[in-house]
Amino acid sequence: MTAGAGSGPHASVPPHSGAARAGAAPEVAAAFPDIDSLIGALDAADYVVDPGLATALFLAVRLPQPVLLEGEPGVGKTEAAKALARALDTPLVRLQCYEGIDAAEALYEWNYPRQLLAIRMAEARDERLAENDLFTRDYLLRRPLLAALEHPGPRPAVLLIDELDRADDDFEAFTFELLAEAAVTIPELGTVTAVHPPIVVLTSNRTRDLHDALKRRCLYHWIDYPAPDRAAEIVRRRVPDSALPLTLDATAAVVRMRGLDLEKPPGIAETVDWVAALTLLGVPRLDAVPAELAVTTLGSVLKSREDLELVRAKGLGWLTGSSRA
Ligand SMILES: Nc1ncnc2c1ncn2[C@@H]1O[C@H](COP(=O)(O)OP(=O)(O)OP(=O)(O)O)[C@@H](O)[C@H]1O
Ligand SMILES: [Mg+2]
Repeated sequence: MTAGAGSGPHASVPPHSGAARAGAAPEVAAAFPDIDSLIGALDAADYVVDPGLATALFLAVRLPQPVLLEGEPGVGKTEAAKALARALDTPLVRLQCYEGIDAAEALYEWNYPRQLLAIRMAEARDERLAENDLFTRDYLLRRPLLAALEHPGPRPAVLLIDELDRADDDFEAFTFELLAEAAVTIPELGTVTAVHPPIVVLTSNRTRDLHDALKRRCLYHWIDYPAPDRAAEIVRRRVPDSALPLTLDATAAVVRMRGLDLEKPPGIAETVDWVAALTLLGVPRLDAVPAELAVTTLGSVLKSREDLELVRAKGLGWLTGSSRA
């Protein structure tokens, strides 16, 4: 990845670590000898995985290879990276992508006020600073990508490049070198190669297709809506004081709602919010008295008037599964 502008008077090129997928650091390999050990660590970090996602994350950690997670909103893409960092007991470095994001925000910027101050102070001492003196690491503002590459260890950081589909094509192409080689080139400094290459998790909501070239560099995993029992387990993690019958009812109701032609089908996040609301209101089951609460709290789950009307028209019996409408 080449970024920034200006002359390159003194490139200091650190040795390149070379081989991609050289295997994880011994400490990481020892902590996660197999997929089950990672499932256990993620579980302890309150993240519930199915075997498919666990395998993808295990390979991302152990090969290592960046993993691209796609899935409907709220299925746990972002949380997967956060949980991985907790499981590894390592920092999460997050780059939130948006339209127009560029290298200065993602990688590094020169600290111009500091450079200016250094020039002024030198002038006050009747000295003159050479350009080389001003383009050193002391004057770098590290943005997330550089911070992740320069993480001092002992374990690699987890780098989350979140919602890459929101960034422009050019920015996506700009991440290629980083993904393939855990290195970036800063014209004034040379190539910065990670001593502890970060574990990279990319997410996309598929508002546009990502480049094939990017996908080639990544493992790919589609996170589906969890099966109802797994969904109930996730909800119980997030709302520990919720009643089990309520979580089972709510997750089943959400599955039924997704079968309707909704503008915005609810994800796990909305299910969690709904159960939290009902628990706060003291509701132990969806059809518990007063039963209207199941309907009046639907704003936790559905976020448009049309969707609300569609589900309300189905009635409480449909929502609780006691009748078919
Ligand atoms: N497997 C899971 N285990 C534990 N919590 C989960 C799981 N999946 C989702 N969640 C919870 O659901 C919520 C939504 O997850 P998250 O923000 O990761 O979704 P997302 O896929 O990134 O959504 P979006 O596309 O809207 O960004 C979070 O509160 C998260 O903790
Ligand atoms: Mg997200």
